[in-house]
Amino acid sequence: MLLKRAKRGRRILSLYRLAVLISGSGSNLQAVIDAVSDGTIPNAKVELIISSREGVYGLERAKKHGIKNMVIDRHDPAKLAKTLEDHKADGIVLAGYLSVVPPDVIRKYNGKIVNIHPALLPMFGGKGFYGIRVHQAVLTAGVNFTGATAHLADREYDTGDVLVRSVVPVLVGDTAEILQKRVLGVEHKTLVRAVKALVENRIDDLVRNPVTLIREEDKEGVREFAQGLMTLCEALTVADNGEL
Ligand code: GRF
Repeated sequence: MLLKRAKRGRRILSLYRLAVLISGSGSNLQAVIDAVSDGTIPNAKVELIISSREGVYGLERAKKHGIKNMVIDRHDPAKLAKTLEDHKADGIVLAGYLSVVPPDVIRKYNGKIVNIHPALLPMFGGKGFYGIRVHQAVLTAGVNFTGATAHLADREYDTGDVLVRSVVPVLVGDTAEILQKRVLGVEHKTLVRAVKALVENRIDDLVRNPVTLIREEDKEGVREFAQGLMTLCEALTVADNGEL
């Protein structure tokens, strides 16, 4: 709940107005809509949904929930900035938004723009790392774990402060499509957790102490992997001390 100053200095309680920017099917958008409506994200409202593309399913979700929605071309930063201002957005959620956010908007909403990325940043992030490409790169790199990261948006792609991460294993036989599905499965909770902190004005806490989420069924795998790393470190330490 935001305390805003009304005329004659009286304070009014108002809902936190979220603007959600999308470019695709909008499953992350849906997670935010559901969390606002069931109170997981309290005292907030999805005020506006802006898509950078026509005809995407995310816009159908907006219509289904009766939320104001529109398409703003990514080459029209002035219209985006004015629209956010006209709708008095308090914070912005980038839910599969594939364009860079204009510098004016980053400046005006500094620390109030949360993005979701389908990898464990800072790895597999940056220009060109979006959609299935991210998961192909993870497989090519041969890493054991991947996941999703909710972070603050800044002027570059995927470089803002990390707020919440969710870790999932990369399993033998995984294809990029299988991995994308497993990561999308944890993206929603990761994003909702970060947006809740935004609405409750707890972003600074998360910047200082980012949260890492692991599903119950994945904990054993992470524990084994961590144990493997520890053993490796010990071996390296022994080697360094010339004790071999
Ligand atoms: C998600 O994987 C998100 O991390 C990425 O784009 C995808 C969008 O999915 N930036 P959806 O449109 O929210 O379903």
